[in-house]
Amino acid sequence: MSYITVKDLVRVYRLGAVEVRALRGLSMEVREGELVSVMGPSGSGKTTLLNILGGLDRATAGEAKVGDVDVTFLDRRQLVMYRRRVVGHIFQTLNLVPTLTAAENVALPMIVNQLPRSERRDRVDDLLSIVQLSDRAKHKPDELSGGEQQRVAIAAALANDPPIVLADEPTGELDSETSQVIVDFLVQINEKYKKTIILVTHNPLVAAATERILRIDDGVIKAAYTPAELEAGAEGRTVSYVDQMRQRIKKLKAELSDVDKKFKSGDVTGDEYVEERLRLKAAIRGLEDEVHRHGG
Ligand SMILES: Nc1ncnc2c1ncn2[C@@H]1O[C@H](COP(=O)(O)OP(=O)(O)OP(=O)(O)O)[C@@H](O)[C@H]1O
Ligand SMILES: [Mg+2]
Repeated sequence: MSYITVKDLVRVYRLGAVEVRALRGLSMEVREGELVSVMGPSGSGKTTLLNILGGLDRATAGEAKVGDVDVTFLDRRQLVMYRRRVVGHIFQTLNLVPTLTAAENVALPMIVNQLPRSERRDRVDDLLSIVQLSDRAKHKPDELSGGEQQRVAIAAALANDPPIVLADEPTGELDSETSQVIVDFLVQINEKYKKTIILVTHNPLVAAATERILRIDDGVIKAAYTPAELEAGAEGRTVSYVDQMRQRIKKLKAELSDVDKKFKSGDVTGDEYVEERLRLKAAIRGLEDEVHRHGG
């Protein structure tokens, strides 16, 4: 019996006269306790899929069932409860609250869920120890490395003990060694705590650590592989890792020029501009290093 059942899922974004069909009738199933990865090119609908499953976005049509609940039918209030109890979400970009310490970031979802202070403290300790960051509890995000920040994000996603963890490229901005550490934690969390995990990634080495790899293209799942099949070249016709990194660099550079434009037109403040620019620059540099390391 599958635990997550997505059927004919459609998401159309309308921007004025322009229509973007991000999901075009996507179907997939995930068993309870499974660790699956979703791989596919930039713009293929990975984040859209995760955001609908995470109750952050609304489908235009189709079904997205988690257990007996179809998230596409939940009203606003039910979605809030669903997000607090059922899913833990780890995002593509590092997104901790910059003014809070690691421990406070992990405690935040529990405060929202009104967990008593004493229980909260114990649970924060446990979670930080699971991601091996007990000695960084009082550090703010900018006093932590990228990999450490993402481990805090994992701990925060687990705060309310959700049965499902959705991880949207949790290693996207990290080098391959640090990525491996993050993946190892997710594998451990899947095995030890029996969480059902959907992990979006561009990196075949990351995907290889999962039980099943779903290939998304143009808003539909086109194929499913085991890691062995992936290694044997089932993905042979698709874009190489280095080319995917290059695609990402291109996208980040476009974002960079977008930020420049926004700053010039006064849509972002100087502080936001500087911060966003630094973040994008660092991400681009990291990816370029990664391309070089792979001989590109
Ligand atoms: N809020 C939005 N409004 C309009 N279009 C959107 C919106 N969000 C996503 N899209 C578009 O939908 C398509 C799928 O986007 P999505 O973010 O799901 O891709 P992705 O597979 O996660 O890509 P990446 O690997 O770059 O993160 C893209 O063409 C994107 O431009
Ligand atoms: Mg995405």
